[in-house]
Amino acid sequence: MIKVEGLTKRYARNIAVDNISFEVEKGQIVGFLGPNGAGKTTTMRVLTCFMPPTSGSASVAGFDVQQSPMEVKRRIGYLPETPPLYPDMEVAEYLDFVGRIKGIPTADLPKRINDVAEKCAIGDVKKKLLGKLSKGYRQRVGLAQAILHNPDVLILDEPTSGLDPHQIIETRDLIKGLAGDHTIILSTHILPEVEQICGKVIIIAKGKLVATDSVENLTSRLRGSETVAIEVIPQDGSAPPANVQSRLEQVAGVSRVIHKESKDGRLHFTVESLEGRHIRPGLARAVIESGWNLNELHGMALSLEEIFLELTASHKPEAAEALKEAAAEAPAEPSAEEESK
Ligand SMILES: Nc1ncnc2c1ncn2[C@@H]1O[C@H](COP(=O)(O)OP(=O)(O)OP(=O)(O)O)[C@@H](O)[C@H]1O
Ligand SMILES: [Mg+2]
Repeated sequence: MIKVEGLTKRYARNIAVDNISFEVEKGQIVGFLGPNGAGKTTTMRVLTCFMPPTSGSASVAGFDVQQSPMEVKRRIGYLPETPPLYPDMEVAEYLDFVGRIKGIPTADLPKRINDVAEKCAIGDVKKKLLGKLSKGYRQRVGLAQAILHNPDVLILDEPTSGLDPHQIIETRDLIKGLAGDHTIILSTHILPEVEQICGKVIIIAKGKLVATDSVENLTSRLRGSETVAIEVIPQDGSAPPANVQSRLEQVAGVSRVIHKESKDGRLHFTVESLEGRHIRPGLARAVIESGWNLNELHGMALSLEEIFLELTASHKPEAAEALKEAAAEAPAEPSAEEESK
C-alpha cells in the first residue's frame, strides 16, 4: 500500500532523510520511531505530497507522490505535527470547509462531521473558535479532519501528543479500530503505545533506516539467544537449589543458569540459551522428569524501549549493522525442525 524506495530529502546542506526504503502492507499499523530530528516528520511530509523528495521515490496505493499527487492526497488522511487550523473559524465550520475541499458530497457532509466529532470527542466544542481551543482539543480536531473523508491511508504525526490520559486511550482505540480497512503510519515517542497498537515498527535515526520489523522479531534478532525465567518447586523440599541448578545446566542448548532466589520452597532461576537455541521444551521436560513441579516458565523479552535505545544510541551503529546482517541471513537459516530431520 505504501512503498518508499531510496528516499532522500535534503534541506540546504542538511540531509534530513538519507536513502531510506520500506514498505507497508494494506491494513497494517506501523509505528514510525526515531529520536528528535531523525527525519520522521520529513518522511511523512514527502508521503503526503507536502514537499517533493530530493531523490528516490514514494508511492501510495500504486500512485507516485510526484507524478500523481492528487490521487495520493485523495487516499490519505494526514495529521501534521502541528495541525493547520484557522483561528477565526468555528470547529464545525472548519470541518465543513475541509470536507468540501476533500470532495465529500454536500449531502453526506453533516453525517460525516457528526461521526468524526463523536469518534474524536469534540461534539461539545463544535461551536468554539479554533483559536480558543486548548492544545488537546486542537489535536482532536486535527485527527477529526484527517479521518473525515474515510481515507484508505492515515499518516499521523504524534497523534496522541498533548492529549489527556482518557483521550490517549480513546485515540488508541480509535486507531486500532481503523486497522484492517485502513493502512496507518504513526509516529510517537510513547513506546508502550507502539507495543499496544502497531504490528510493525520502522526505526530511523539521523535520517537513516536502522530497523524495520515486528517488535518480537527485533527482540529475538537483537538478542540472538533466549533468556527464560523458570520457577521450580521441588516436592517436599527434597532437592536443594544447587541440584536443580545443575540439572537445568545439563539441558541441551543451555549456556548459563543463574539462581535468583528461593522463597517458600519455590526456586527462581534465569536460564540463558546458546545462540539460536530454543530451550523451553527441554527445561520443562527436565523439571517434570525429575519429579519436581514446574510453577512458571516464560521467555524474557527485551522491551521496545531497550531495543530503541540500543538501535538509536549514536555510539552504537554496530547494533543496527548486526541486525541488518541477521536479517539478511535469516531466510537462509534452516529452522530447528528442519535441522532435526
Ligand atoms: N524546514 C526545514 N528546513 C531545514 N531543516 C529542516 C526543516 N525541517 C526539518 N529540518 C531538519 O531535518 C531534520 C529532520 O527533522 P524532522 O522534523 O523530520 O525530525 P523528526 O524525526 O520529526 O523529529 P521530532 O521527533 O523532533 O519531531 C532535522 O535535522 C531538522 O532540523
Ligand atoms: Mg517530527
